[in-house]
Amino acid sequence: MEKTFLMVKPDGVQRNLIGEIVARFEKKGFQLAGAKLMSIPTELAEEHYGEHKERPFFGELVDFITSGPVFAMVWQGENVIATARQMMGSTNPKDAAPGTIRGDFGLTVGKNVIHGSDSPASAEREIGLFFKDGGVVEYSKVVNEWIY
Ligand code: PPS
Repeated sequence: MEKTFLMVKPDGVQRNLIGEIVARFEKKGFQLAGAKLMSIPTELAEEHYGEHKERPFFGELVDFITSGPVFAMVWQGENVIATARQMMGSTNPKDAAPGTIRGDFGLTVGKNVIHGSDSPASAEREIGLFFKDGGVVEYSKVVNEWIY
């Protein structure tokens, strides 16, 4: 099944938005396959955002993402990569539609609450970076005596 990497950024963690964000993806019907609260070492941040190395805001981006804990997640489901990006809304919260995560909670282009992989290749790369020691769980929904 398709998997994506999503991350509640330090502003989202500080603003107690983890539960709200997880609930949106659960209610949509996607399945959580991995999650952890973590601090990102500078080297990991620089590798994760490596494609933006030459951009003027790169230093700011790395400083921000390492400024406090993030909530790193793997989600799975049909078309989860593209659908999660739609649910997140535009990168700049001022352009993000109401009803999207950034439209509802984001403030500035830097502090935009959530990161999500933008393609199958980046999903594979980012899951590999953040869950390289494991923690991605494969499981099926069960119907039994305690779920009815
Ligand atoms: S996108 O969606 O990847 O095309 O967006 P992009 O505009 O290329 O931005 C890439 C990431 O950089 C962050 N960003 C910024 N951070 C700080 N300051 C400024 N000015 C700025 N502009 C963009 C943006 O939030 C993207 O982060 P992620 O985590 O990939 O969403």
